[in-house]
Amino acid sequence: MAVKHELEDVDGVGPATVEKLRAAGITSVEALAVTPPRTLVEIADITEEKASTITQSARALLNIKFTTARDVLTKRGNIGFITTGSKAMDNLLGKGFETQAITELIGEFGSGKTQICHQTCVTVQLPVERGGLAGRALFIDTEGTFRPERVVSVANNLGLNPDEVLNNIIYARAYNSDHQVLLAEEASHIVPENNVRLLIVDSVITHFRSEYPGREALAPRQQKLNKHLHQLLRMSDIYNMAVLVTNQIQSTPDTFFGNPNKPAGGNILAHGSTYRIWLRKSKESRRIARIIDSPMHAETECLFQITQNGIIDVEEKT
Ligand code: GTP
Ligand code: MG
Repeated sequence: MAVKHELEDVDGVGPATVEKLRAAGITSVEALAVTPPRTLVEIADITEEKASTITQSARALLNIKFTTARDVLTKRGNIGFITTGSKAMDNLLGKGFETQAITELIGEFGSGKTQICHQTCVTVQLPVERGGLAGRALFIDTEGTFRPERVVSVANNLGLNPDEVLNNIIYARAYNSDHQVLLAEEASHIVPENNVRLLIVDSVITHFRSEYPGREALAPRQQKLNKHLHQLLRMSDIYNMAVLVTNQIQSTPDTFFGNPNKPAGGNILAHGSTYRIWLRKSKESRRIARIIDSPMHAETECLFQITQNGIIDVEEKT
């Protein structure tokens, strides 16, 4: 069996640095090895030279090197999937929400983003043969719209014990963007110790939009958002976990041609998320999910329905 290395084993990392790294959410050699040296300079208050030595030592310890496409395929073979509750939406995504990736749910108010988040907090707990990962969920709520009652109804509908299901959802309310970033960093302690296989940030953009209004604030906002997304993506990779974030629609009134509505967060979110799903309202409780900008999927769409018991397929009329 491979030896498990600790931060203390990395050359150049003393006890004071270990403490600072852990406080910033870098708790493993794996996490250290993929943290950019420039970030380490900030976190650990060390010189750039030292940071780059530390990164190299961490990588050497893990034997990080070029691999073959075959190894990549083997790693991708470990990818797990979480059912959305709707077969049509699972098919749209391949088999459901993927681990080792960030999936972004985009849509206007009431389009069903938060409902899907509630649903997957429950379905991730299902055994693999029922479309889950037998794992827990971690929910970072920036809008105060998490409703445990909704979790209970979804759990009941799936024949799960609601008490157990609630206990398997680790919840935090984020009050501002700094707090949100901090919670994501803190998550790297919680995730491996609690078998968390799904991390949700609902919504990833709200605080950033309200705290950084105007053009002048755009650059610092995007920089911070970029770092936050990278942190989430790193965790999804290291811990083989699915990350689900929600995003809002922004209207650009100066658009003359094409769709004046586009996802908020600009290129940073567009490039930061692995998969993007655009949700639109249809008749009554029906919704349309469209996959956009995917490296693996054709740009197709499907119908689903929001009910009291969660997300389901639209019943075929006979
Ligand atoms: P914002 O966070 O405001 O941007 O919207 P969202 O996309 O998160 O919307 P959310 O997931 O909260 O969806 C709310 C919608 O779900 C509402 O428009 C309701 O129509 C629908 N909904 C919520 N609960 C129920 C329910 O018990 N039964 C049915 N049929 N629909 C419900
Ligand atoms: Mg919502």
